[in-house]
Amino acid sequence: MREGKAAVTGVLQVLATALVPMLVPMLLLALATLHVRAVSAAVHDGAARPAAHAIAPASAPSSAPSSAPSIVPSSAPATQPFYASTFERKPDTAQLTELGRALFHEPALSASGRLSCASCHDPAHAYGPPNGRAVQWGGAGAHGVPGLRAVPSLMYRQTTPPFSEHFFDNDGNDAEDQGPTGGYAWDGRAGSAHEQAQAPLLSPFEMANRDRSEVVKRLAQSPSAAAVRTTFGPHVLDDPAMAWNALVLALEVFQQSPRDFAPFSSRYDDYLRGKLTLSPAEARGLRVFNDATKGNCASCHISDVKRGAFPLFTDMGHIALGVPRNPAIPANRQASWYDLGLCGPLREDLKQHADYCGRFKTPSLRNVATRQVFFHNGGMTRLDQAVRFYAERDVHPERWYPKDAKGRVRTFDDLPAAYHSNVNREPPFGGAPGGHAAMSEQDIADVVAFLKTLTDAPIGVAAKRAQTKSATTATTATSATSATSAKNAAAR
Ligand code: HEC
Ligand code: HEC
Repeated sequence: MREGKAAVTGVLQVLATALVPMLVPMLLLALATLHVRAVSAAVHDGAARPAAHAIAPASAPSSAPSSAPSIVPSSAPATQPFYASTFERKPDTAQLTELGRALFHEPALSASGRLSCASCHDPAHAYGPPNGRAVQWGGAGAHGVPGLRAVPSLMYRQTTPPFSEHFFDNDGNDAEDQGPTGGYAWDGRAGSAHEQAQAPLLSPFEMANRDRSEVVKRLAQSPSAAAVRTTFGPHVLDDPAMAWNALVLALEVFQQSPRDFAPFSSRYDDYLRGKLTLSPAEARGLRVFNDATKGNCASCHISDVKRGAFPLFTDMGHIALGVPRNPAIPANRQASWYDLGLCGPLREDLKQHADYCGRFKTPSLRNVATRQVFFHNGGMTRLDQAVRFYAERDVHPERWYPKDAKGRVRTFDDLPAAYHSNVNREPPFGGAPGGHAAMSEQDIADVVAFLKTLTDAPIGVAAKRAQTKSATTATTATSATSATSAKNAAAR
């Protein structure tokens, strides 16, 4: 049905590729204002609001650190809006990107000296987790402290809008309130990538610094110090507030790098460009993915070109799917602990919204086949399992949820009963236990085949492919991508 969209015009392709590089300067300008607002909000809040990374909640289970640290402790250097920073040197985007890349891989910034952003957000796994652990371990000590959520990929996050409770899409039905949308992290609680960046640096179960001053001290002593001075000026590390802003700015700009974070180099992108044909299984999978009566996946994981932009496979909406509780997360050993997403406890500003409990942000499905754990709690370890959950959740709940002492299935066991009505029941969900699944086993296998077309080509291959012409290109891409998938499949 949507195959017509494959006939993308050259103009659209140019726009799609042009869009991302345009974002960097746009971001630098636009966020200047936004950031001033964010900083003053933080100050008014008593500066204790955690940003996007998981911070031990007040009701933290025993395995999590007992006291919630404040993000901007009193000993922190005075906050200074980023773009108000008057650096001695004005680095360009390329310089910031290269510095940000180095800092992203710099373990000296962590309290343990062993953890960098890349330890959890591995470039070889689409900046997602490098292993099959539901949550990664961080912290200052030798033994480590477990996180509370699966590590998301950082790819294709560039256009994430700031969190809003009421989102109106200016495309199509603009009168319809789409509900909570956007923001960084699984619960949208960070407004931007730079607000996001400070959280892992300070979270006790991630890079575990006490405060910003400690981060700046480590930065000044790290192998990256020279590069920071070269980029921002010889005195940048003498002023802690300035040094902090330099650090998070470089990290943010790196994460906007189209080559690394938004290459649009998957087989599906080439299919949209009219450069290759999908295999029969992939094409069937795409149809099921889009079909409103079958997978209906595209209703949340957008799959078609909109206003010239290639699809990101998310509408950024926050939805409750009722995924099963994951006993592998240490925090979950405490029966009274629930990660309720939007309504807390990691996020603190929407606790009164009972109707938001259980909602998490719809992730992009680009590069999803490179993951070894799925959903916010990393409870599923195979892609076909994640897809089958959609088909079977309501018609075969006994295959997904544990039973209570009386043998009754404890449906939606990761949500207190009061919030079960928040769980989404639109297709592919719905149907009574024992009923007919919206997707057959064949459909599931086909959707998995399709999802594997969303894996980007390795950077070298993508660059080479840009130089060659279509027919040969398609073959190179196919083999490169399937080699990656095969490697990942073997790893699972
Ligand atoms: C110990 C593992 C770990 C480390 C180290 C880590 N992160 Fe994360 N990151 C996570 C987890 C877990 C989440 C999801 C947090 C949540 O939803 O509460 C996340 C979320 C994010 C997000 C939001 C992505 C989205 O989909 O909205 C960004 C951006 C990010 N991290 C950047 C960074 C940067 C930059 C660094 C280094 C300064 C870093 N992370 C270090 C585990 C880590
Ligand atoms: C109503 C919106 C909605 C629909 C329809 C939907 N999804 Fe999702 N999807 C989500 C949300 C929200 C999450 C994250 C939920 C969570 O972690 O609790 C998610 C997560 C996923 C994940 C895990 C990704 C990751 O990074 O861990 C996969 C895989 C996935 N969806 C595939 C599909 C497929 C395939 C379909 C169609 C059969 C589909 N989705 C239909 C909203 C939706």
